[in-house]
Amino acid sequence: MARLDVTEKFQGISFPGHLHTKDSLEFAVSFLFKDTDVLIVSYPKSGTTWMQEIVTLVSSRGDPQFSRTVPNWARAPWLEHYYCAAVLEASSPERRIITTHLPYHLLGPALQGSKAKVIYVSRNPKDVAVSFYHFHKIANFLPEPGSFHEFLDHFLEGTLYYGSWFDHIKGWTSHTEAINNLLHITYEQMSLDLHGTIKKVSSFLQCPLVEDEVNNCVKHSSFSSMRDNNMINYTLVPKDIMDHSKGSFMRKGEIGDWKNMFTEEQNQYFESVFTSKMQGCTLEFVWEK
Ligand code: A3P
Repeated sequence: MARLDVTEKFQGISFPGHLHTKDSLEFAVSFLFKDTDVLIVSYPKSGTTWMQEIVTLVSSRGDPQFSRTVPNWARAPWLEHYYCAAVLEASSPERRIITTHLPYHLLGPALQGSKAKVIYVSRNPKDVAVSFYHFHKIANFLPEPGSFHEFLDHFLEGTLYYGSWFDHIKGWTSHTEAINNLLHITYEQMSLDLHGTIKKVSSFLQCPLVEDEVNNCVKHSSFSSMRDNNMINYTLVPKDIMDHSKGSFMRKGEIGDWKNMFTEEQNQYFESVFTSKMQGCTLEFVWEK
């Protein structure tokens, strides 16, 4: 299957032009947020889709009806996708759930002064790199990944589509004073304590749930439940965009898969770049289970 890869360069960062046009990126960075909006922010492969499912389920008090009948890109559209404006206009929900991979320096100004609730989702970057590498193989709107070694170099240099992981996490976690409502959740928290994470999200969204409702959210956002739900596992996406014969979007869902992929040398190089780029950053990461 031929790649649809067309690069849209926007303010120095490469984006998949098949999904994000200059107009749609302009639309995103000048978006007028409402105080009732919920914005899920992440670098790709950090647990974005998982959080979309959690927020949908929490908002429907654990009832899976909505998340089993409406695809995730329609219930929590990506702000920078070309169809976002149309989806938001057509659905006009009481509480808009919006998703973005944009870095803080591009989207922060639009959020300034807004009371929209922002959930920032992060994941340890070694697992992000491995997950993103495998995703490049099935996502025809992204460039060919090449070897893992080459891909890892691009990841560490910040030259992949969507820009640098380092800039993304540092940008969104170091400007908390400029954003009124920001909750930082990690993939590893979701994985190690899904029940507790759902309670945290429900409290942040001011959507208190009783225990049975929390348990329903846990059940329907488990890896197996999402893997089998075609409204969230991306199998509805046409093959020319995502080729599931080359791998699954719901791939492994584990902490520490990087250990199966990194050589000792790659790990040492990663550590040295990580230490230098994250200097002064106090965030802690869970690297393995
Ligand atoms: P892997 O490729 O490591 O399996 P994103 O939604 O940001 O693109 O992230 C995708 C990653 O989240 C994939 O990681 C996917 O398997 C994982 N994921 C999605 N839902 C999950 C769940 N319910 N439990 C665990 N991992 C999940």
